[in-house]
Amino acid sequence: MYSYTLHAPAKINLFLEILGDRPDGFHELVMVLQSIALGDEITVRANGTDDIRLSCGDSPLANDATNLAYRAAQLMINHFPQAHSQYGGVDITLTKHIPMAAGLAGGSADAAAVLVGLDLLWNLGLTRPELEQLAAQLGSDIPFCIGGGTAIATGRGEILDPLPDGDCFWVVLAKHRSMEVSTPWAYQTYRQQFGKNYLNDDQSQRARRKTIHAGPLLQGIQHRNPGQIASHIHNDLEKVVLPAHEAVAQLRQALQSAGGLGTMMSGSGPSVFTLCQDQATAEQVLAIAKEKLNDPDVDFWLTHTIGHGIQIIDH
Ligand code: C5P
Repeated sequence: MYSYTLHAPAKINLFLEILGDRPDGFHELVMVLQSIALGDEITVRANGTDDIRLSCGDSPLANDATNLAYRAAQLMINHFPQAHSQYGGVDITLTKHIPMAAGLAGGSADAAAVLVGLDLLWNLGLTRPELEQLAAQLGSDIPFCIGGGTAIATGRGEILDPLPDGDCFWVVLAKHRSMEVSTPWAYQTYRQQFGKNYLNDDQSQRARRKTIHAGPLLQGIQHRNPGQIASHIHNDLEKVVLPAHEAVAQLRQALQSAGGLGTMMSGSGPSVFTLCQDQATAEQVLAIAKEKLNDPDVDFWLTHTIGHGIQIIDH
């Protein structure tokens, strides 16, 4: 029986700006998303039954339809019933390395890998835009996770424009092991506190704001200028998550004062990252921040930015 094992990279947000709320309950965003080498491993294998069977190893993740990876397989079955009857059900094995509920799109990356994996396993030959369209039905970050690299994401995060690869940073990542931040909570709280500042929903105003706010960062990316990139990273959700979670603010402070080019919370948190120009600096930043914090509940990772999304690692 054929199987595919895929690497599903996490992402960090180099930029997250909330432009307004939307009638569908989501928020209109401008994000710059960046893949990092830290990732999960997903194997998909035809199982000779009609069913989806998901195994998540020793991670506490559920193996049912509450798991995005499972829902991704359901979506593929619903869209391609003929392939399902031809090839049968699928065993999905998930090996988790990306911390959960961390603002790193771990669940989204897994779901993206299942879409790509079933496309391969069932010989569907879907194009990237077709896969992205399916992905958008499952979650806002999933289309990005398919192709990864560096991209600007607008709409609710599903409209992607690729940017030149920003694969020039080492990244120190840190997160309190026992802390999770709910993404819906972060957006709702932002809306309650800052919603009055939204511009009206006029498209041209949105486009203007996009260039004003993300402009210097985008220029830095175009020119592959690490200093300019790192000094223009931004995340609106810090305004609600940091005051509500003093420990995240302290972690951010410890990382920022440990050196590196720039520090920011990723997505809705609570993970925090520091961009560094080389591996030696990143190792130093990690050691200093670890010593400063002296908190056994904080996990650290040393990783680097990469220029791709889901990749086959075994077949
Ligand atoms: O799309 P996804 O399921 O990843 O979004 C998780 C939650 O984050 C949504 O239910 C919503 O509360 C919030 N969100 C939002 N606006 C976006 C993306 C996400 O309000 N553009």
